[in-house]
Amino acid sequence: MNGGVDIKVSPIKKFEPVFYPDSVTLVGASRDPRKFGYLCLKSLIDSKFPGMIYPINPGSSEILGLKSYPSVKSVPGTVDLAIIVVPANLVPAVLRECGRKGVKGAVIITAGFKEAEGSLGTELQDEARDIAEEANIKIIGPNTFGMYIPHANLNASFTPLLSTIKKGDISFLSQSGGMCHTLSYLAMDDGIGLAKVLSLGNRCNVDFADLLEYLGEDPQTRAIAMYIEGIDNPRRLVAMAKEVTKKKPVVAYKTGKSRAANQAAFSHTGSLAGNYELYSAALRQAGVLMVKDSLELLDTAKALAFCPLAKGDRIAVCSPVAGPGIVSADLGQENGLTIAEFSLPTQEKIETILPPVTFRMNPLDMAFARNSGMWKEILKAIINDPGVDAMLLIFVKQEFFDPIIDEVVELAIDLLKTYHKPIVMGLLSPSKIFVQEKNRLQRNRIPVYQTPERAVKALAALISYSKTLGF
Ligand code: COA
Repeated sequence: MNGGVDIKVSPIKKFEPVFYPDSVTLVGASRDPRKFGYLCLKSLIDSKFPGMIYPINPGSSEILGLKSYPSVKSVPGTVDLAIIVVPANLVPAVLRECGRKGVKGAVIITAGFKEAEGSLGTELQDEARDIAEEANIKIIGPNTFGMYIPHANLNASFTPLLSTIKKGDISFLSQSGGMCHTLSYLAMDDGIGLAKVLSLGNRCNVDFADLLEYLGEDPQTRAIAMYIEGIDNPRRLVAMAKEVTKKKPVVAYKTGKSRAANQAAFSHTGSLAGNYELYSAALRQAGVLMVKDSLELLDTAKALAFCPLAKGDRIAVCSPVAGPGIVSADLGQENGLTIAEFSLPTQEKIETILPPVTFRMNPLDMAFARNSGMWKEILKAIINDPGVDAMLLIFVKQEFFDPIIDEVVELAIDLLKTYHKPIVMGLLSPSKIFVQEKNRLQRNRIPVYQTPERAVKALAALISYSKTLGF
């Protein structure tokens, strides 16, 4: 598998037992709530993993209500996946035992491998890789927080809280466990689900390119978000990205601009971040959308996962408050969007509905659209305009507009279903207000953002991807 794309076995088949195992063993399970071996077992239980769970601990017979075994060898049934949380020097022996047991995948949470100072860690990692290659075991890690697969009810990490993330269609691939937490918490707060959260750690025999290839084929993943520090095999990653972006959107956040970050990247997961500008440009050329922070990573992935592709770059901006409409028009243009020119019939329609004080151009000020009937007439005319490819709809928390929020939500959902043009919403309100409304919109594939800037940038990314595929 190393040093080339394996074309014989499909990526889905290769990783099936790792992401959808029938049985899991946790080597290093512990009754001590302060240890990773306890937290990992709690994660498995909290996520309601439906298969067999076999905790391994030489000194216990029962942990967290589950029968525990002294070794992997002594487990009565077959084992697909092993989660390993014993100290680094014990890992090779555990892996050998896993190989003999027929284990297909291992999540090695243990640190102290290639990222550690001195040569011992690198030697241990090489040894682990050789054993795994021999036994045909796919390793996630070592030095990883683990992974979470909501669709498989499999939280193979040391953070039980992640078990509450809903099932969704954005997958997140990251070197860093900390960034997996960051993205997962943002998603939880936003009320959206995820498909797979995969932390690669030191990338022993499974690299970015392998998982990118897998996610490209994964039917549960509609958009792929990546956080990248170091890249061991940049050519292979870029080549893979070029293939995957032809069928699925990929958005990446690459770090390592400064010398300090580059050095920290090495001690974090064992590889240098490399030339930031060079790698970013190569990924961009391969069709990957590059972003500058974690919030933008999720914002972009959300628009790409939720919305239909756009057929052009002409957007309509409709807002009951002028300022955010103007901000969106400016930023839209700056990000390569065209502010659509409404057709004559659309302008005439608007004229019949809004009082003459209103400027009937795009961005449209809807301040005088006082009831839902007016919103319906106007928005229908605009989205149906052949010169409009996508809509940015802004709504604001103001007591004056409160009575029509439910109808605007239904209207937006209805327009998306009828016209199949992307609709992105800027819902300008405190995050604890309009929660139900936001959830309803997002369940119905209308991404919602709290500021006009975030909304228009996400829409620009969606349109840029649509353009890559050639609208
Ligand atoms: N098989 C199964 N269990 C074994 C074992 C074996 N061969 N040998 C020891 N154990 C048990 C231990 O007895 C212990 O259980 P206990 O609490 O009942 O005694 C358990 O495995 C864990 O071993 P312990 O020596 O207590 O290690 P630890 O929990 O202090 O640390 C790690 C283990 C893996 C967590 C630690 O070495 C480590 O790597 N920490 C950093 C992890 C990290 O940061 N990863 C990256 C995150 S992004």
